[in-house]
Amino acid sequence: IARNFSSSSAVQSAIKNVTVIGGGLMGSGIAQVSAQAGQNVILVDLSSDVLAKSQKSIGNNLGRVAKKIYKDNPKEGEKFVSESMARIKTATDPVSASQGADLVVEAIVENMDIKHQLFKKLDAAAPNHTIFASNTSSLSINEIAAAVKRKDKFGGLHFFNPVPVMRLLEVVKGAETSTATYETMMAWGKGVGKTCITCKDTPGFVVNRLLVPYIAEAIRLFERGDASARDIDIAMKLGAGYPMGPLELADYVGLDTNKFILDGWHKKYPQETLFNPIPLLNKLVSEGKLGVKTGEGFYKYE
Ligand code: CAA
Ligand code: NAD
Repeated sequence: IARNFSSSSAVQSAIKNVTVIGGGLMGSGIAQVSAQAGQNVILVDLSSDVLAKSQKSIGNNLGRVAKKIYKDNPKEGEKFVSESMARIKTATDPVSASQGADLVVEAIVENMDIKHQLFKKLDAAAPNHTIFASNTSSLSINEIAAAVKRKDKFGGLHFFNPVPVMRLLEVVKGAETSTATYETMMAWGKGVGKTCITCKDTPGFVVNRLLVPYIAEAIRLFERGDASARDIDIAMKLGAGYPMGPLELADYVGLDTNKFILDGWHKKYPQETLFNPIPLLNKLVSEGKLGVKTGEGFYKYE
């Protein structure tokens, strides 16, 4: 059952200005859905070169959305794209970009130290009311929040790839996230068009706690030679109704990302055999076969 939490109009309008830090795959998508929903967005990354690429991909993806929504009215579609694009400013200094933010969503590299450095700087400079959220896939929200004083205004907003298409948002309530912050995050998520679920700060929240071991088991099954990659993927698409098979999905998410998540959890929870390292996954990553983004993983891509 989809549970949409509604809230008062005061909460709905609590967030108007969003700063998204990290303009990669996820940050670009988060900036896009925020701008589509009428939010003023500042997208931050390390260089203007990266930001130019982010803007290009956002423009293309907005075009795909416009084609769908305004298929009989291309003029309205163009207006939708240009107005959404105009709501996204870019910057390379996260501190000044957060001065006017009601919400900061962090989508930078999955590294605890780098996330801590960023949030420490932001905490010292952002207005008191600003809510901080991390889009982390696998790290603990409480551990990331250790870097800030405003622990009541810190939570998780975990989106899914591709952000403009996937309808779920996991809203993570950390140990010290206040009810007001949680409710504002739920209302904001709904406002940007997502169905929100509530998660505790447990490894992988809900989706990745199920998806990562599932992908790992599929790789082990293939590694043992129990079935071909193609047959494993066909099995889960036609036998269980998944849009992609597990090995296709592993390639899509990135084999480095899968390995990184498993290694981190294995270190933290060595007794959980589902998180054990997988020799075949390690081999592919060491060969630079990271999936779709490098042109080869379990499959080859043009
Ligand atoms: N931006 C905007 N629109 C996009 C898009 C993007 N990046 N990618 C695809 N679309 C749109 C297409 O335009 C298309 O729209 P229409 O149906 O109106 O034509 C629609 O989405 C379907 O796309 P395609 O026809 O190209 O391809 P598809 O039907 O195979 O769907 C898919 C692609 C949506 C990715 C689908 O295969 C899918 O749902 N796969 C599973 C994805 C998944 O599980 N994601 C979660 C990964 S785990 C994660 O993200 C968490 C983590 O922390 C690692
Ligand atoms: P990505 O590599 O595509 O993008 C990360 C971006 O952050 C890069 O453009 C990089 O230049 C920038 N960056 C790095 N350090 C920075 C800093 N200190 N300040 C500003 N920008 C910085 O990665 P991604 O896939 O978008 O993942 C980002 C976050 O989202 C990670 O925490 C990841 O775990 C999480 N996530 C990823 C997925 C996925 O499927 N890829 C899904 C959900 C969540």
